[in-house]
Amino acid sequence: MDFAELDDKRKEHFLGGGIEKQQEQRKKEKMTGFERIAILFDPESFEEIDQFVTHDCQDFGMADKKILGDGVITGYGTIDGRLFYSFCHDFTVFGGSLGLHFAYKICKIMDLALKQGVPIIGINDSGGARIQEGVESLGGYAEIFHRNVKASGVIPQISLIMGPCAGGAVYSPAITDFIIMTKSAYMFVTGPEVVKEVTNENVSSIELGGAIIHNQKSGVAHFLAEDEIDCFNILRKLVSFLPSNNLEEPPKISPTDDPKRKGEDLNLILPSDSRKPYNMDRIIRTIVDDGDFFEVQKFWAKNIIIGFARLDGNSVGIIANNPEVLAGVLDINSCDKATRFIRFCDCFNIPLITLVDVPGFLPGTDQEWGGIIRHGAKFLYAFSESSVPKLTVIIRKAYGGAYCVMNSKHIGGDYNFAWPNAEIAVMGADSACNIIFRKEISNSQNPEKKRTDLIIDYEKKFSNPYIAASKGYIDNIIEPKDTREKLISALKSIYKKREELPKRKHGNIPV
Ligand code: HXC
Repeated sequence: MDFAELDDKRKEHFLGGGIEKQQEQRKKEKMTGFERIAILFDPESFEEIDQFVTHDCQDFGMADKKILGDGVITGYGTIDGRLFYSFCHDFTVFGGSLGLHFAYKICKIMDLALKQGVPIIGINDSGGARIQEGVESLGGYAEIFHRNVKASGVIPQISLIMGPCAGGAVYSPAITDFIIMTKSAYMFVTGPEVVKEVTNENVSSIELGGAIIHNQKSGVAHFLAEDEIDCFNILRKLVSFLPSNNLEEPPKISPTDDPKRKGEDLNLILPSDSRKPYNMDRIIRTIVDDGDFFEVQKFWAKNIIIGFARLDGNSVGIIANNPEVLAGVLDINSCDKATRFIRFCDCFNIPLITLVDVPGFLPGTDQEWGGIIRHGAKFLYAFSESSVPKLTVIIRKAYGGAYCVMNSKHIGGDYNFAWPNAEIAVMGADSACNIIFRKEISNSQNPEKKRTDLIIDYEKKFSNPYIAASKGYIDNIIEPKDTREKLISALKSIYKKREELPKRKHGNIPV
């Protein structure tokens, strides 16, 4: 048997685009594809397939430039002992650009991952469609997009962006569940040259679509990684919360934190003036196991907080209003952010914990003209449609439509708790009295005193949790310090929940 040929070919494959190209990659502080795979997967666990694939393009001198593997590394391996499929662009080969056979390699492992029910991790570092291959490379992309959609909600799909990601190439990562970007990476549909031509704006690639932009402004990315090692660490942490597919439960770890641990600080955390902010992150970390909260999209739409944590070893998704930003009001971006997160958790059997302190929806032409109605409806729809266990704690305010939206009992909350000072009302006492007692106040001898008396009276009557509790809309009013214990107990009692929606092709969520 001729092992020498196999050996030679393997060596050739592992050289990718050659030593010079690998050095160029390192000069840009980027790893090569093979180095990335070696760091991401458990030692010696990665099995590569299709090492010998090449393109069959004959044009533009490409017939003489065939590189084994064609610029993408595909295969499977384990991360912390769990199986994952992965593809990794090799920028040293034609700038990681995607041709037809390159695309087919990716499609092959996407099909295998879907059949087996295993998450897929895409490592992106590419100049986009391989220009020499023309429409074949466009078709290759579209085949990938189509598979991304088929796999959506069946297996988790995660994209790491570690270099350029331009043109239509952005749409595969955009369909996947999470995008982690390194600081030097960028994503855009049209690059700086086209932008200059069309709009006369001067921007660099990073200014247009760098990791900071997509983490802070556009909401396209979910995590910002300092460098490539950080990117892999974020990925490892993320997948630790997720099941491998929609038919599995999320991994349960042996809890190291007492399920009955009290959070004494929480009894004192709310300021006496209910218009003053406080730190919701502290509440979350006090409640969850070991104070370990893994925040998602932490730099975008900061008026809502989303992320993963564990309660007594079980993965949960947390959605919490953030009183420190815009008083925790709901706006277009916060609705979008929470909606996608709720739907992800619902796809993958991750229970939802909602912590409410919301004064309502953000008023103004900006929001109304931007379609806050549509975006708020989407948020409401997502909670309402989700069938995982859903627990809510009203921490402070739950006003108006936002009360309904934030996983109220009426839209399917399984357990709805409130802290004793919760204000559940159609609107704040000030605004309510100005509307319903306008005449009484203006006709009074002392309008200011009358107004204050009416507000106090209204607050006593309506801005408390007892009326909602008397109607069963709130299952229990709990002391803040007991929140962790109550949530863990409630979650245990509903963890195996199964709820069927009416049979249909799919609903029509207002997007
Ligand atoms: C073929 C490509 C390529 C591409 C880069 N290369 N992009 N080859 N098709 N799309 C090659 C370069 O010719 C070069 O080859 C090598 O990769 C490295 O590229 P450099 O330019 O030297 O690297 P760098 O300076 O780091 O710049 C990287 C880059 C730039 C920013 C990505 O290469 C670039 O702008 N490329 C074109 C990007 C683009 O417009 N792509 C098409 C997008 S449209 P040599 O032999 O010199 O080493 C698209 C449509 C998809 O993708 C639609 C899907 C539906």
